Amino acid sequence: MPTDSPRQLAMKSAAEVIVYQNSGDACIAAAERIAGVMKSKNHPILGLATGSTPIPVYQELVRQYQAGHLSFSSVSTYNLDEYYPISPLNDQSYRWFMNHHLFQHVDIPANQTHVLDGTVPASASTEHANQFDRWIEEAGGLDLQLLGIGRNGHIGFNEPFEADLAEAVDLPTRLIELHPVTRTDAGPAFGVVDKVPTHALTVGTRQILKARQILILAFGKNKAEAVAASLQGVPGSNVPASLLQTVADRVVWILDEAAAAGLKV
Ligand code: GLP
Repeated sequence: MPTDSPRQLAMKSAAEVIVYQNSGDACIAAAERIAGVMKSKNHPILGLATGSTPIPVYQELVRQYQAGHLSFSSVSTYNLDEYYPISPLNDQSYRWFMNHHLFQHVDIPANQTHVLDGTVPASASTEHANQFDRWIEEAGGLDLQLLGIGRNGHIGFNEPFEADLAEAVDLPTRLIELHPVTRTDAGPAFGVVDKVPTHALTVGTRQILKARQILILAFGKNKAEAVAASLQGVPGSNVPASLLQTVADRVVWILDEAAAAGLKV
């Protein structure tokens, strides 16, 4: 049970913004929303995220599965991104992360879990990325997309760049070059920044923004600036999470107090 009631912040846009005293309560609330979608559909299609932020969300979903409250047997998952190049056996790969934190603990059939493949030859990466988009579309689109946020405002590995709004909201799944801030932040996990892959495959803004529900989590003071720019700045490609403003009525932000500290209310 959450320790304190969360605060709901009113934004100019229709986005729901809920602020929890601590990230533990926030993650339990996020897991409840995901479980709610899973229980409301015969074949739920989930877009999943990696990074440290959602780990307790997955722990709570595993707990609910182990308690017999939840089944993943008819769920299909599509992960947001993967480093490139990387082997799925590397413990820094997002395939490894998902197996380790969720898939191996629940009853999801392996062929219903989809993670972009960090081993495809570069010459086949566009074809692979296009195929990933097609798989999501053929499955009927994402019922729920779970997101974290990078310190530079990235979602998935859609990094800040210069483009007009129409282009920025319609990016396909593709191979990208990682932003220096992203590589610096990933440095400790790889031991040293030089070992962080220079590239990654990411689901594009087109699929993310089409999801029927988008749940974005941000915790800690390092994320406060990106959260404020995303929610209260002008939407644009330079802060990819600000593009969520274009579909605000389908977006729920789940924050802790530290990540919400930059918001003007
Ligand atoms: C990586 C992932 C993002 C994630 C971000 C934040 O760059 N590609 O999907 O949101 O990290 O990570 P963390 O949750 O560890 O702060």
